[in-house]
Amino acid sequence: MQALETSPMTVPFINARPTPEMTAFQHPATHVFAVTSGKGGVGKTNAVANLAAALVLEKKRVMVMDADLGLANLDLFLGVSPQYTLADFFAGTKSLSDILTPTPLGIMLLPAASGIQEVTSLTDAQKIVFLTELDALAHDVDIMLVDTSSGISDTVTYFATAAQEIIVVVMPEPSSFTDAYALIKVLASAHREKRFWILANNVEGKRDAERLYDTLSRTALRFLNTSLDLLGWIPRDPELARAAAHGQLVVTVSPQCPSAQAFTRVARRLMHSAAAEAWEKGNVQFFFRRILAAHEKRAVRVINR
Ligand SMILES: Nc1ncnc2c1ncn2[C@@H]1O[C@H](COP(=O)(O)OP(=O)(O)OP(=O)(O)O)[C@@H](O)[C@H]1O
Ligand SMILES: [Mg+2]
Repeated sequence: MQALETSPMTVPFINARPTPEMTAFQHPATHVFAVTSGKGGVGKTNAVANLAAALVLEKKRVMVMDADLGLANLDLFLGVSPQYTLADFFAGTKSLSDILTPTPLGIMLLPAASGIQEVTSLTDAQKIVFLTELDALAHDVDIMLVDTSSGISDTVTYFATAAQEIIVVVMPEPSSFTDAYALIKVLASAHREKRFWILANNVEGKRDAERLYDTLSRTALRFLNTSLDLLGWIPRDPELARAAAHGQLVVTVSPQCPSAQAFTRVARRLMHSAAAEAWEKGNVQFFFRRILAAHEKRAVRVINR
């Protein structure tokens, strides 16, 4: 953050929304979903990995980015131990294509290393190289899922505001609910995000999910003037817990179990959302244009201070 504020630079492609004409000349849109939560341990990583697997089974080309820079563990669920990570990329020793790791299921993984710096402390130059290389990789991708850490860190708000869609994972327990609300509040008020998908996880069933969603969405509408959409729900499923304990995905090891079926339903919903929004919002560069636009605004505020 410091480096950005003291050395602002002019970014040539600063418009957050590409025009339809621009989009028409670019490769088919890659849709970016950031998966986040207020509280830790509510099932984000399992959701990202299982949704990615379900999307691949639906013949989508999927890339996942592990943006949990504190506790990266997406690689475990995807059955790989990457040789290089985003830390090597940001150290300048590897390109993104060097670190992009194919997984047995066909999901492409951009792995994170635990304990690397906050993304917001990267320089603009590093971010532009990231943008350019990621856009080249995204030519072969339909949907990108970003697994973030929990809570309200700079890195979380950074990836969440940059993605086209924000998915907030919530469990039916008071602390998960209040922390989700706190995160939505920050994203809606400080970052002007207007659209949130709620993924109710670890619920008893549809009614439990709808109750959780209704309470959260009524609160957000009343106090934040923000409307939430229910993306779907994943039942509490011992089969998922068992698979997770072995670093496995229910979608592949127990496709008939209730949580696996639910992930498939949610994946189809994501596909429809991505298809409906593709023209409106453009491709993966949207993700990074927004990151760069946010820097520019911050830099201008610092100059005018
Ligand atoms: N639907 C579910 N049914 C049963 N258990 C679940 C379900 N969802 C998540 N869990 C349990 O919660 C654990 C934590 O899940 P996961 O690691 O995906 O959470 P996370 O949000 O990524 O955590 P962190 O914030 O630490 O990154 C899983 O290992 C699993 O045991
Ligand atoms: Mg996680």
